[in-house]
Amino acid sequence: MRLRHKKWTSSVLEENKDIVIPLKGITSKSLESFTDIEIGCGLGGFLKDLVLLNPDKRYLGIEVNINAFASLVKKMKDIKEKDNFSVINAPFERVIPYLKSSSIDNIYINFPDPWIKKRQYQRRLSYPYFLKEYYRILKPGGKIFFRTDNLDLFNASISYFMLTPLFDLTISYPFYSEKVDYLPSTEYERKFREKGVSISLITGIKK
Ligand SMILES: C[S@@+](CC[C@H](N)C(=O)[O-])C[C@H]1O[C@@H](n2cnc3c(N)ncnc32)[C@H](O)[C@@H]1O
Repeated sequence: MRLRHKKWTSSVLEENKDIVIPLKGITSKSLESFTDIEIGCGLGGFLKDLVLLNPDKRYLGIEVNINAFASLVKKMKDIKEKDNFSVINAPFERVIPYLKSSSIDNIYINFPDPWIKKRQYQRRLSYPYFLKEYYRILKPGGKIFFRTDNLDLFNASISYFMLTPLFDLTISYPFYSEKVDYLPSTEYERKFREKGVSISLITGIKK
């Protein structure tokens, strides 16, 4: 999905600074209250659903693309009174160093970019470097949910998880969000579903 710059982008970002953590000036302290993170929120439907479902949790949404980020902010501003979430416009790689060890309950990654060229594999959000960082920031028993439509990424990700045996794995293929209450669907998922594309889910529990 190629997102265009919308004419309301600047005003939405300007008017909703209270739900945004600026990358400049970010500290470990500013992130220490979050219990759950979503990496690559896209348009934000999933994050919004989780925030509404679980008022006792504190969510941090991370999205690198400024146009997607503006749409995310536009969606989340309608529930800002919930006061249990913030969003950051940055690549996750820039946020990792500020997340404390053993501080997070759940990590959600929904339909990440597949990075299909071999020289790009290390950018995959399931690459061993990332798995080690997820392991570091998750609490014991904490979970990672990794959903994709891309079979190559799915198979490669299983092998990355096996190579980095830090998680107990459950593989769900095909996976239907409609049949579970803990993992709402996302904008991408609904599009794939309409086209009849199968979705897979890898759930890893920190050993
Ligand atoms: C294919 S879209 C999926 C969006 C949404 N999760 C969904 O399922 O509808 C992937 C999103 O992840 C974002 N993204 C990719 N790599 C990222 C990274 N390293 N850190 C933060 N966001 C990232 C992209 O900008 C894009 O919005």
